[in-house]
Amino acid sequence: MRSQVVIVGAGPAGLLLGQLLGRAGIDTLILERRSAAYVKERIRAGVLEQGTVDVLEHAGVAQRLHADGLIHDGVEIGFQGARHRIALKELTGKGVTVYGQTEVTRDLMDARASAGAPVVYEAEDVTLSDIGGSPRVTFRHGGKTHEVDCDFIAGCDGYHGVSRKSVPPDAITAFERQYDFGWLGVLADFAPLWDELIYATSERGFALASMRSETRVRCYIQCPLEDSVDDWSEAEFWAEFGERIGGDIAARIPQVPALEMSIAPLRSFVAEPLRFGKLFLAGDAAHIVPPTGAKGLNLAVSDVFYLYEGLRDFYRSRSDLALVEYSARCLKRIWRAERFSWWMTRQLHAFPGEGFDERMQRTEIEYLLESQAAQKAFAENYVGLPL
Ligand code: FAD
Ligand code: PHB
Repeated sequence: MRSQVVIVGAGPAGLLLGQLLGRAGIDTLILERRSAAYVKERIRAGVLEQGTVDVLEHAGVAQRLHADGLIHDGVEIGFQGARHRIALKELTGKGVTVYGQTEVTRDLMDARASAGAPVVYEAEDVTLSDIGGSPRVTFRHGGKTHEVDCDFIAGCDGYHGVSRKSVPPDAITAFERQYDFGWLGVLADFAPLWDELIYATSERGFALASMRSETRVRCYIQCPLEDSVDDWSEAEFWAEFGERIGGDIAARIPQVPALEMSIAPLRSFVAEPLRFGKLFLAGDAAHIVPPTGAKGLNLAVSDVFYLYEGLRDFYRSRSDLALVEYSARCLKRIWRAERFSWWMTRQLHAFPGEGFDERMQRTEIEYLLESQAAQKAFAENYVGLPL
């Protein structure tokens, strides 16, 4: 078998890259470890930056997003029992779009199916070889071993994927920060508790009131890293969420069973560089942000857009300039999103027992809520730095 580009992973990064390259006349084969149903059902991010919406439009997959996405011109911060609005649109000229990653994935899967482009789901033992020379990917599927020759490999296989691990350890540097708490999230079908997202900080810990549509909410609370979903009943979740988010919002929570409940650990991680010969890493394969700034999916999209431009230029005019610059171009944006996500995580979560840091945290939030300049800096990052 042969393909110009083999893409490992059919998450949003891999599917979007396949879609953009397909429209530029470049053929791709996507290899995905999980089943199509599993990939479609995975519940993750919910907030899209305008830059992400623009790329999805460019990829021809934004029709449903425009019809069903909710445009938010502001976001609220809950602090010491009161809520304060940050007017994103007034401060930056831009808002954000609430549209679930599940929907983005579905739109991309549908587009790939319509284009008749190949995806091998349940591809086992994907192995990359000769990434510095004539790259080749082998995998097992349907009880057989297959081998694909290609010009390039795009490693879009997430944090636990095989691509980053295929690079010689001395060629890659990892930077990492772990947090000793996670987010317990609940998805449920009822009308949003508020018109905009509320990020609330309290002595009991962080809470986030988010949504997926006019009829579906997604809410989170900070929880100990050791907790498992079984440690929490739905009633306990909503009681704790209510304590943290404030009485007026808590009073609106109906008794509706959850559709899904899960815990995600929080981590900051960056691997440098993003290119190793013919292998390019993109999305969570190269970096992880804690979800507090809603940057994970948006960063995956900007990496993919830069990689698409590089590969398109290469096939169009044999110019490898954009491919040469790919890693540095991505890393500049990645580190800025890492900074903002780390900062937001640091300011809004409870870090027990840190007296001086606790005062600093309170001072940071007070300053944010009182200073127009600080709000502008926050808004500029939240809506997304330019691509
Ligand atoms: P992924 O979505 O991880 O896709 C990688 C794909 O590669 C997967 O389909 C995987 O099955 C496949 N794969 C892995 N290994 C192999 C292999 N060896 N061979 C073949 N295929 C392989 N971001 C936010 O902004 N807000 C959130 O609330 C939020 N919640 C999250 C919750 C969880 C549990 C996780 C893990 C992430 C969350 N994120 C969130 C981050 C966001 O979802 C990611 O940044 C985004 O999914 C990145 O897309 P990706 O395509 O790079 O990686
Ligand atoms: C979500 O809706 O899942 C969501 C929204 C904003 C975040 C993180 C997650 O910062």
